[in-house]
Amino acid sequence: MIKIEQLSKSYGAHQVLSNIDAEIRHGEVVCLIGPSGSGKSTMLRCINGLEQYQGGRITIDDVRVDADSASIRQIRQRVAMVFQRFNLFPHRTALENVMEGPVHVKNESVAQARERARDILASVGLAEKMAHYPNQLSGGQQQRVAIARALAMQPDAILFDEPTSALDPELVGEVLGVMRKLAEKGMTMVIVTHEMKFAREVSDRVLFLDGGRIAEQGPSEQVLTQPRNERMQDFLRRVTHAG
Ligand SMILES: Nc1ncnc2c1ncn2[C@@H]1O[C@H](COP(=O)(O)OP(=O)(O)OP(=O)(O)O)[C@@H](O)[C@H]1O
Ligand SMILES: [Mg+2]
Repeated sequence: MIKIEQLSKSYGAHQVLSNIDAEIRHGEVVCLIGPSGSGKSTMLRCINGLEQYQGGRITIDDVRVDADSASIRQIRQRVAMVFQRFNLFPHRTALENVMEGPVHVKNESVAQARERARDILASVGLAEKMAHYPNQLSGGQQQRVAIARALAMQPDAILFDEPTSALDPELVGEVLGVMRKLAEKGMTMVIVTHEMKFAREVSDRVLFLDGGRIAEQGPSEQVLTQPRNERMQDFLRRVTHAG
């Protein structure tokens, strides 16, 4: 579904991604891991057209992702993004946050959007919190609203950029639980994460980025338990000990 061919991206003279090749199939869950500055966020941002890239091509079901083109709005509707910081509208309730996209971007009727938003919020365990404002919710609850907001757009895929890194440790599980459920339902997901246990249990494949290149990739269990790349062995030792 998402095809990345020879992707290269620089900021000025600084090359951030070099000749990335990767393919993500429908229903697949892929974790993107790697040291700070290796280009993980940049790669996600290129996939949904938030960033221009200089070389190669990215296609979503054969539609080329080009941040400048007219089709980019459509691409962003099909490929949602969830960030480390939840980016909710502070003056709207959880329910209103989830209704926003369907009403204003997809021109759904308010009644229909509200009904779906209720269902989606209930599905992420927030049936009791719909009328709450973001500052009345915990970080884990806010992130679940952010996921609900992404789901309300009925995307074909969701990109997650360190969705649990800003959370207190005791709140991480509830967000990973929601993501695990989405994976089981067959949602296509690309997830930047340092949660190695989650990556091993939930994702089909892992890509390890190092200095803007894919240094290793393969089935999660194999790559995470028997990495061949030395930098990846190093990286895994560090994250496992930190966590
Ligand atoms: N807007 C920008 N302008 C210039 N350089 C940038 C910009 N955004 C990112 N970079 C650089 O690109 C490189 C990759 O950054 P990126 O944010 O993709 O890394 P990352 O793997 O997501 O790191 P982290 O784990 O810390 O989030 C870094 O060297 C960073 O400094
Ligand atoms: Mg990042």
